[in-house]
Amino acid sequence: MPLVTSKQLLEDARQERYAVGAFNANNMEMVQAIIEAAEEESAPVIVQISEGAVRYAGLEYCAAMVSAGARLAAVPVVLHLDHGASFESNMRALRAGYSSLMFDGSSLTYEENIAVTSLVARAAHAAGVPVEAELGQVPMVRDRASAEQVQQAMTDPEGVAEFVRRAGCDSLAIAVGSVHHMQEREAELEQQRIRACSAASPVPLVLHGSSGVRHESVREAIENGICKINVGTYLSAGFTEVMRAESTRRASEIDPRKILMAARAEVKERVREKIRLFGSSGRAGGASPRNGYLPAVGFAAVE
Ligand code: G3H
Ligand code: ZN
Repeated sequence: MPLVTSKQLLEDARQERYAVGAFNANNMEMVQAIIEAAEEESAPVIVQISEGAVRYAGLEYCAAMVSAGARLAAVPVVLHLDHGASFESNMRALRAGYSSLMFDGSSLTYEENIAVTSLVARAAHAAGVPVEAELGQVPMVRDRASAEQVQQAMTDPEGVAEFVRRAGCDSLAIAVGSVHHMQEREAELEQQRIRACSAASPVPLVLHGSSGVRHESVREAIENGICKINVGTYLSAGFTEVMRAESTRRASEIDPRKILMAARAEVKERVREKIRLFGSSGRAGGASPRNGYLPAVGFAAVE
């Protein structure tokens, strides 16, 4: 089917208490692995493209790869811009046909964050595309934030309702104890904070930096209101580790496909594992444009 927006997928997840996996892709093999895993699990899926991936592979290449995968798939597939850093980068993605956007204003003040998010939302909504915002900040491992700094950057539930109302966002990323790019799975999320944010938020909540979060904590977070879960590092690590091992094992191989096939298979298994953890296996069944899964405007004419 054509690309769908994330709007209805996340509303359904909120209602039914599961989470839709949002997986970062940087190349064709990762896009294929993510969509194939979703097909095998009968799960709705979000393929997300970071600004780093845009710099590496190009906005148009990413859009073309994901939309081709979506058209070949029976499950709903969303093409999402991850951590869009500016109004301009969001508008470029909108024009290129992305069916879901994110403006990351987490380094701005509360008021500046609202100001830019609402501009992005207004433009995106005119084209039928939803927007994720971020309130609070999920730090990066490379910033070596102390436990106190991670704590200080967490989302204040008190500001959530007003932020969503004034920013006009369709989903909200909250900072609740995860850190981007962790390679060990040892972070514990603040469940009480998730519950408070969920009670205050009129829109579905998003967890970033999930690679480093303990699985039990992820399960609880979903029960407490997390509806979209971003996974990046766990997939990149799997892809690279297998590529390195296969290159060593087949030291005289010159066909890159032989190496990349194994890496793609590893990513697919990791995505399937996370889809099962998130409870979204088997949730693609009723998805069709007729059931409110709106095709993204840019691709509606393709089918
Ligand atoms: O936006 C992307 C995610 O938050 C991924 O985080 O690489 O730590 O899994 P991660
Ligand atoms: Zn993130």
